[in-house]
Amino acid sequence: MSSLLLDALRCSNLNRPPVWLMRQAGRYMPQYRALREKYSLWEMFHHPELAAQVTMLPITLLDVDAAILFSDILVIAESLGLEIEFPNQGGPRVVPQITNKEQVVHLSILDAASKLSYVFETIAEVKENLSVPLIGFCGGPFTVATYFIDSTSKEQFERTKRWMQEDPESLHLLLDKITTASIAYLKEQIKTGVQAVQVFDSWANILSLEDFSIWCLPYLRQIVDAIRDLVPVILFCRDSSMRYRELAELKPTCISLDAKRSMSALRKAIPESIAVQGNIPPDLLKSPPSEMQRHIEELMHSMKGQPGFIVNLGHGVLPDTPFEHVKYFIQTVKEYPPKL
Ligand code: CP3
Repeated sequence: MSSLLLDALRCSNLNRPPVWLMRQAGRYMPQYRALREKYSLWEMFHHPELAAQVTMLPITLLDVDAAILFSDILVIAESLGLEIEFPNQGGPRVVPQITNKEQVVHLSILDAASKLSYVFETIAEVKENLSVPLIGFCGGPFTVATYFIDSTSKEQFERTKRWMQEDPESLHLLLDKITTASIAYLKEQIKTGVQAVQVFDSWANILSLEDFSIWCLPYLRQIVDAIRDLVPVILFCRDSSMRYRELAELKPTCISLDAKRSMSALRKAIPESIAVQGNIPPDLLKSPPSEMQRHIEELMHSMKGQPGFIVNLGHGVLPDTPFEHVKYFIQTVKEYPPKL
């Protein structure tokens, strides 16, 4: 299958850069909000026909160049025998919370992917109607572990950080188990039809560079090494524009960059064989169209002729972004250079 996204991931795109958005199906979208009034988030993730419908919304409404599976990084908890909750207030929760070595030892990773069959059914359903590539995903093991241990991010990851100090060995065992389950999960997503995967290690930025290399990189490396020869692998973390050197050493297919540094400078610093994705500040989509246009033109001009460039945001679309602005953004990127 030839497509702008897959070509750009292979650093061989001679046409316009592809564009898609992290959280492209979300609360900023009236059609998404209408579904959310009828169904809980848990229901939306667990019912293949609903999850497939939501996955398709940005394709039909925005005409983006890729679909991303509508699911969550935390469903992996179910493959390890835990439950997930998405309360209306205050972030997702994993039940029971993981607080000690005993619990980690007893987490079973046997046959991990089979418990997530609803995700694979969603993928199969989406693939029937899709003319652009489908991106699958999982969380970075460290980020997933913070949700197992600290339950909500409001606690500043106090328990995770204490565990690192007090019993590093059992925390590594937990990360090992999450990594094994994640690799099995991604392989099954690929078997059912996803054509690229993105790994979201969102909370890697709470660690010093030294701790990042102990608690994140070895597990990301295992995932990249297991998947890279099957489909392209995109790595994302908060502050990736500060940690691109370490991420590049893992030799992923692509690095998804945040907005803290200029994309053209990052492109020069990252080996040419690795594609780059990003890095519009999510806030920009709340500003007036003229401001968006100026920023898009600057970015597109600075990246002109780059065969390995994918337009995206530095992080997900913010829920209070006007839908019409997102539409304008996608259209303006696709129509660059503007006709006089
Ligand atoms: O990008 C996409 O559109 C694909 C779907 C997707 C979701 N979550 C759906 C979702 C993806 C790729 C994720 C990843 C995810 N989930 C991450 C990593 C990416 C990131 O944003 O840093 C993390 C840390 C999570 C955990 C999670 N799930 C949180 C903290 C929350 C609550 C915060 C929030 O945005 O509301 C969720 C819920 C969640 N997952 C929503 C969506 C669309 C919110 C939807 C709603 O309330 O209706």
